[in-house]
Amino acid sequence: MGIDPDFERDREVVADHDGHDVWGPVEEPERLGVHGTHVAVDFDVCLGDGACLRDCPVDVFDWVETPDHPVSELKADPAREDSCIDCMLCVDVCPVDAIDVDASRAARRDD
Ligand code: F3S
Ligand code: F3S
Ligand code: ZN
Repeated sequence: MGIDPDFERDREVVADHDGHDVWGPVEEPERLGVHGTHVAVDFDVCLGDGACLRDCPVDVFDWVETPDHPVSELKADPAREDSCIDCMLCVDVCPVDAIDVDASRAARRDD
């Protein structure tokens, strides 16, 4: 199952990671939640494919190490989600639908 596009309704922000939101629940190392709000990556779905890092035209993502996570020990972190131009390539190329992009969700958070 991919990321829940309604995570904003179903989850709460529990932490900040280098300037972006982390939507819980988080119970390290098994459950890591969703990172980002405009560009959201479900770390519990991401299996470290890397297509998003390779294809994003504005280099939004960085690798982050997640030792002992049951799915993969590398995740795509939306480190520069504010640079996103909503091209949706990452959403299209991710093989497990771990990414959801929604600029209006980020705008609501900034209200
Ligand atoms: Fe990059 Fe995805 Fe935005 S590919 S520009 S983060 S929609
Ligand atoms: Fe992960 Fe999908 Fe990117 S599996 S590394 S979010 S292409
Ligand atoms: Zn993060």
